[in-house]
Amino acid sequence: MGLLSNKTAFITGATSGIGKACAEEFAKEGADLILSARRIEKLNEFAEILKKDFGIKVFSFKLDVRNYQDVKNSISSLPGEWKKIDILINNAGLARGLSKIYEGDVENWEEMIDTNIKGLLYVSRQILPLMIERQQGHVVNIGSTAGHYVYPNGNVYCATKHAVNALTQAIRIDTVDKNIHVTSVDPGMVHTNFSNVRYSGDTAKAEEVYKGIEPLTAEDIANTVLFCVTRPKHVNINEIIITPLQQASPAYVNRNK
Ligand SMILES: NC(=O)c1ccc[n+]([C@@H]2O[C@H](COP(=O)([O-])OP(=O)(O)OC[C@H]3O[C@@H](n4cnc5c(N)ncnc54)[C@H](OP(=O)(O)O)[C@@H]3O)[C@@H](O)[C@H]2O)c1
Repeated sequence: MGLLSNKTAFITGATSGIGKACAEEFAKEGADLILSARRIEKLNEFAEILKKDFGIKVFSFKLDVRNYQDVKNSISSLPGEWKKIDILINNAGLARGLSKIYEGDVENWEEMIDTNIKGLLYVSRQILPLMIERQQGHVVNIGSTAGHYVYPNGNVYCATKHAVNALTQAIRIDTVDKNIHVTSVDPGMVHTNFSNVRYSGDTAKAEEVYKGIEPLTAEDIANTVLFCVTRPKHVNINEIIITPLQQASPAYVNRNK
C-alpha cells in the first residue's frame, strides 16, 4: 500500500518539470492519475511508462488551460470513475520574457495572465464542485516566491503569482465549510524547462540563471507537494515557500558554487 493508494490526482502541465515530477512521485505512492498538457504525444508516452512501471491507472488528455470551453468540456466529459478527484495540482504555468514594464511585450503578458491566473481559475471552477459534492479534496496551487516578492523586470509574472497567492487564500476561505484542503507550494529557483520557456528557447541564457548555484530540482517540489497531501485529515498546510539554500529571495542569490 502506497501513501496515495485509492486516491486520484489531477495534474495540469504534466509533460515537464514540476508537474511531471509530481506525477512520478504520486505514481510511486499508488495514486491513479489524470494528466493534462498541450503536448499530447509526450504526455501519452509518459502515461504509458507510469502505467507500466507503477501499475496505476492513468487518464491523459490534451488540454490548454487557457481555453475555458475545452477545460469545461473535457472535465465534464470525464468518465464517471475519473470524476472522483481527490487531489488537484494546479501546476501549468510559465514566465515569458523579462523586461521593464514600459517596454514589455503585451503578447507575453496575455500568455502569462491567461495561463497562470485564468487557467488556474478555469480548472478550479470545474473541479471544485466535484470535490464539494463528495465533501473531500485537496487543491494544491503551484505558486512562486514571485507571489511574495517582486523582482526587477519580473513585473507581470510576479503579478500573476501574487494573484495565485490571493486565489489560494480565496479558495480556502470559500471552501472552509466544505472539508476541502487548500495549499500553495511556492518555489524559488527550480531547474526545469522554466527558464528555457522564459527566454523562448535561448538555452545559453536559460542556463545562466542557475550559474553558481545549486537550484532546487522538480523532485524537491514533488516531495514537498507529497508531504502537504499526506498530512492527517485535520491538518491544512496553507503555504510552503521553498528555495535553494543559496537563494534568500528572488533577487538575493549567493552565486559562488
Ligand atoms: N522552475 C521554477 O524556477 C519555478 C519557480 C516557481 C514556480 N514555478 C511554477 O511551477 C509551475 C511549473 O513550471 P516548471 O518549472 O515545471 O516549468 P516547465 O518545465 O516549463 O513545465 C511547465 C508545464 O506547464 C505546461 N503548460 C504551459 N502552458 C500550458 C497551457 N497553456 N496549458 C496546459 N499546460 C501548460 C507545460 O506543458 P505543455 O507545454 O505540454 O502544455 C509543462 O508541462 C509553473 O506554474 C511555474 O510558474 C516554477
